[in-house]
Amino acid sequence: MVKEYRIGVIPGDGTGPEVVAEGIKVLNAAGSRYGFSLSYTNYDIGGERYKRTGEILPNSVLDELKSQQALFLGAIGHPDVAPGILEKGILLRTRFELDQYINLRPVKLYAGVETPLKNKGPEDIDFVVVRENTEGLYTGSGGFLKKGTADEVAVQESINTRKGAERCIRFAFDYTRSRNKAKKLTLCGKTNVLTYAFDLWERTFYEVAGDYPTVQTDYAHVDATCMWMVKNPEWFDVIVTDNMFGDIITDLGAMIQGGMGIACGGNINPQGVSMFEPIGGSAPKYTGKNMINPLAAILAGSMMLEFLGEKPAAQGIESGVERALRDNLKSVEAGRMGMGTKEVGDLIAAYVLGS
Ligand code: IPM
Ligand code: MN
Repeated sequence: MVKEYRIGVIPGDGTGPEVVAEGIKVLNAAGSRYGFSLSYTNYDIGGERYKRTGEILPNSVLDELKSQQALFLGAIGHPDVAPGILEKGILLRTRFELDQYINLRPVKLYAGVETPLKNKGPEDIDFVVVRENTEGLYTGSGGFLKKGTADEVAVQESINTRKGAERCIRFAFDYTRSRNKAKKLTLCGKTNVLTYAFDLWERTFYEVAGDYPTVQTDYAHVDATCMWMVKNPEWFDVIVTDNMFGDIITDLGAMIQGGMGIACGGNINPQGVSMFEPIGGSAPKYTGKNMINPLAAILAGSMMLEFLGEKPAAQGIESGVERALRDNLKSVEAGRMGMGTKEVGDLIAAYVLGS
């Protein structure tokens, strides 16, 4: 019997559905080439549903998401919905409730893609950020005092637990070891100022390092990390960091790898249900124009297959993307690819089928 994977799909807002359609086209091609199948359940979640019904993420939907083997997300974000509502209500809630404690962001410059970094090429920009995804400044801990008065106080606390830091750090060491490149793991923190949070992180990091003698350890403050990412990105293999720093440095990472058209990420629960996404957002102005770049979504699909255990298929998709970037696409920017969204999907699917 052919192996079948149950995938929950959240096409979402704006150009989300368009890039998800191409991602699924390529996933199906990979399934037929590598001998498995995927069944999809669509969930109507996002700004449109919220506007129509007032519902953000009903508990019944959340329960269904928990019963899938993986989730494939397009984009959440709507110009008519106030910032924070959908992000907190959908994206962050899913991360917390499904305990997706890792946010994995590859920063890889493919040949044929332009980077804003002068004199840097694909051999220099190839690292992965392991971002803690359920703690830090993202827990919603804090509050106001005397809100709206001249004496107003706002507190937003960074929550760091030994368990939370340790499971993230262990994942990062495992990942660094299995990635088998320089086998170097850099802790990105701020031990000179955040002397509680990053004291915990640093102690945990060096304790856990004892279990991974083949992995070289390194430390950089977050501000210096930003500097090195621009000046000497080749120094990095894997970076592990907390939620907020990870959020910031991964957008910088997306820019040096060529932009949002190519950057993907995974919200991972290694023992549970993980969610894979292009990180570019809903790009409303391109909606329905067949102009948006689906490569980030296609690469998110590749990452999903890797985590489902279909490594050759994941590799087949990545090779297809590499070939298209080398031979076919003029740019990774929306509207400048020299091809339409659907045509890019068709092309990669054909490459995967012929691989
Ligand atoms: C990301 C995004 C989210 C985050 C937002 C949309 C809540 O920027 O996935 O990096 O801050 O984590
Ligand atoms: Mn972000």
